[in-house]
Amino acid sequence: MTTKSKVAIIGLGNIGKTIAQNSIKGNRSIFIASRKKEDATTLAKELGSLATATSTSDAIKNADIIVLSVWFNTIQDLFQQYGSELQGKIIIDPSNPIAPDENGGFKKIIGEKESAGQLNAAMLPKGAKLVKAFGTLGAASLSSAAHQSPDKSVLFYASDDTTVDSKVEEFIHDNGFDAVKVGGIDQSIRIEVFGDLHEFGALGKVVTATEAIAKL
Ligand SMILES: NC(=O)c1ccc[n+]([C@@H]2O[C@H](COP(=O)([O-])OP(=O)(O)OC[C@H]3O[C@@H](n4cnc5c(N)ncnc54)[C@H](OP(=O)(O)O)[C@@H]3O)[C@@H](O)[C@H]2O)c1
Repeated sequence: MTTKSKVAIIGLGNIGKTIAQNSIKGNRSIFIASRKKEDATTLAKELGSLATATSTSDAIKNADIIVLSVWFNTIQDLFQQYGSELQGKIIIDPSNPIAPDENGGFKKIIGEKESAGQLNAAMLPKGAKLVKAFGTLGAASLSSAAHQSPDKSVLFYASDDTTVDSKVEEFIHDNGFDAVKVGGIDQSIRIEVFGDLHEFGALGKVVTATEAIAKL
């Protein structure tokens, strides 16, 4: 029997809380942490014994896979703050580099041809492995489309280091989705907001694996 990677979810807002809920539904144990310890404690009580509330620092120490479900700029702050502790860890980055615009919508806050994935990869602590994942659906769909049957919905992901793929795919499956790899981190732009494989981009919807593979 193989042991599953230990997972920490850091940041418990729309996306982090949904990933935590989907993980528990998939019987996956998790460490959870946020800026305020009480947010993690309260959520852990709701989620039951598979969820352990902890500090950000202990979450990073205890887990193999660290989901940084925080805003794009905060990911880089956490890289700086926890650089040495993140060595050897698999970091999941769901961030979309956007901010509200003047018309009630969203605009990109980095260059048109840049991706959060590539910019975060350039700042990545030494020895850490970056995976772009869990950002391809809005939080509402991430919740409602999880654990469907018979056909699962898809979460796309990108990574340069192929040794992490099976661990990441296992975590995506435990969250109730099929995993479809788009390629390396240089493909991140396709799975970030406005990308051709994003719910809020040309794709425009939640897809199954058959539909997803046809789009690759
Ligand atoms: N919302 C979506 O539909 C969606 C979809 C796809 C991808 N994403 C991406 O997912 C990420 C999270 O988005 P969200 O909507 O979940 O944001 P959110 O609701 O604002 O949640 C962010 C969470 O991060 C916590 N946090 C902030 N700074 C922190 C720090 N230094 N250490 C630990 N935790 C910290 C916040 O705590 P406080 O409450 O104390 O500030 C909050 O719990 C973003 O990068 C976003 O682009 C979002």
